[in-house]
Amino acid sequence: MSGDQWNADLYKEKYAFVFEYGNSLIDWLQPKSGEVILDLGCGTGELTAQLGQTGARVTGIDASATMIASAKEHFPEVDFEVADATAFSLPQQFDGIFSNATLHWVREKEQAIERMYAHLRKGGRLVLEMGGKGNVQHILTSLEKAMEQRGYTYTLFWYFPSPAEYITLLEKAGFRIDRVHYFDRPSRLTDPETGIVNWLEMFAPHFFTNVPEKDKVAIMEQVQEEVAPLLIKDGALYADYVRLRVAATKI
Ligand code: BEZ
Repeated sequence: MSGDQWNADLYKEKYAFVFEYGNSLIDWLQPKSGEVILDLGCGTGELTAQLGQTGARVTGIDASATMIASAKEHFPEVDFEVADATAFSLPQQFDGIFSNATLHWVREKEQAIERMYAHLRKGGRLVLEMGGKGNVQHILTSLEKAMEQRGYTYTLFWYFPSPAEYITLLEKAGFRIDRVHYFDRPSRLTDPETGIVNWLEMFAPHFFTNVPEKDKVAIMEQVQEEVAPLLIKDGALYADYVRLRVAATKI
């Protein structure tokens, strides 16, 4: 997100699925007691704290000072630091780097991969999950149409790579790929009537930087109306998330 526009309380209240789904990613890393682990893009710190419960020594970093303040308040026993994925420089190397739902925010992906590589010891493991190619495609297709109908330019902000694309970047940086999973993971939004509008408000304010409030509201409502029928199942509304999971080793 540009600047620090995160609302940590709202994020935890309505979008807890972001870190709840991340639980199973911890199984991919298999942290062991005594290992040193970095959580890259730790947000409000729930998964960082869970990683720490394995007996590993964990550091969480996030570009958002708001998120880090919330993480420190709720998990005072864990080390947290404000740091950017493309530029972080920490005094040690790690046995493992874990990253959930962060790397699609990082458009300078080669820089983030270079930083992760530099911060792993030889043999260290990288486990990541991010939005993959086609992520939230129904929402974005409708948003593009609604913006262009009103004369606004739609520019995709996030980076949602295909497995082949991201694996190629990791291999180029020197990683060995151990495991890949590319899958649909519909994610339940709290209120079927306003779920898409709320999701856009929370995660996509950058699309509306130059859009007056009246048009912004009209665009978001149009997207809600258009997309909800495609994404409702048994009365519940799901954002059409597509996940890319990768486990890799520094060789
Ligand atoms: C995601 O986790 O896929 C995601 C979340 C917010 C905005 C875009 C993508």
